[in-house]
Amino acid sequence: MARDLSFIHRFEPATRPDLAPVLLLHGTGGDENDLLPLGRMISPGAALLSVRGQVLEHGMPRFFRRLAEGVFDEADVIRRANELADFVGAAHEAYGLAAPLALGYSNGANIAAAMLLLRPATLQGGILLRAMVPLAQPPEVDLSNQSLLLVSGQHDPIIPPANSERLAAMLTKAGADVTRRVLPIGHQLSQADVTVAREWLARDKATVDITSA
Ligand code: MLT
Repeated sequence: MARDLSFIHRFEPATRPDLAPVLLLHGTGGDENDLLPLGRMISPGAALLSVRGQVLEHGMPRFFRRLAEGVFDEADVIRRANELADFVGAAHEAYGLAAPLALGYSNGANIAAAMLLLRPATLQGGILLRAMVPLAQPPEVDLSNQSLLLVSGQHDPIIPPANSERLAAMLTKAGADVTRRVLPIGHQLSQADVTVAREWLARDKATVDITSA
C-alpha cells in the first residue's frame, strides 16, 4: 500500500510494458486490493494502478458522495473526478506510466465515466462494469480517440437498463467507440465479465495474449 501520492493505492509494475497500464477503480465498500486479481486476469502483464476512493459512506470507501442509491451529489462527482485525474497525472510522473485504460466496477466505473466526460486526456479507453450516468448535463467533450466497453447486468437491481443505455448514448455522441454488452446477470461481477473484457481487449486493442485464455 502506498500513501505518498494523494490517494492510497497499490502499484504493480508491468511485466509486459507493451500493454497499456490499467487503472483499477473499486465499487462501494471496496479498496485498492479488490480489483487487482481482475486486472491480472483481464490484462495479464500490464502495469496495474489500483486506487482507494476517498469518500466514506458509513465507513465504506467510495469515489464520490451520493444522496441516495443512484442519486449522485454532482458537485462532488466533479470535484472528485478532477482530484482523481490529478492523481493519475502525479502517478504518471512517479511511475513513468502512460495514460491508463480505466477498469472500474460500479461506483468505480461511474468515476471513470465522469473522468472521461471531464478530463478525457487522463485515460486511454476504459472498461466500465455496471456503470451509470454520472452527470446529468456533462460539458461538451471530444472522445473520438477513446474505445470503451460498457458491461451491464440485465437483472441489475441498482442500475435500470435505460440508465446504462443513456450513458452509452452520451459517450457515443461525444465520439467514443462504444461497445455495450448486456449480460444475463445482476450487479455482481461474474466470470462472463472477465471473458467479455478479455475478448474486447483482444479485438480492439490487440493487447491480450489470447493463447493463455
Ligand atoms: C454508485 O456509484 O453509487 C453506484 O452506481 C452504485 C454503488 O456503488 O453501489
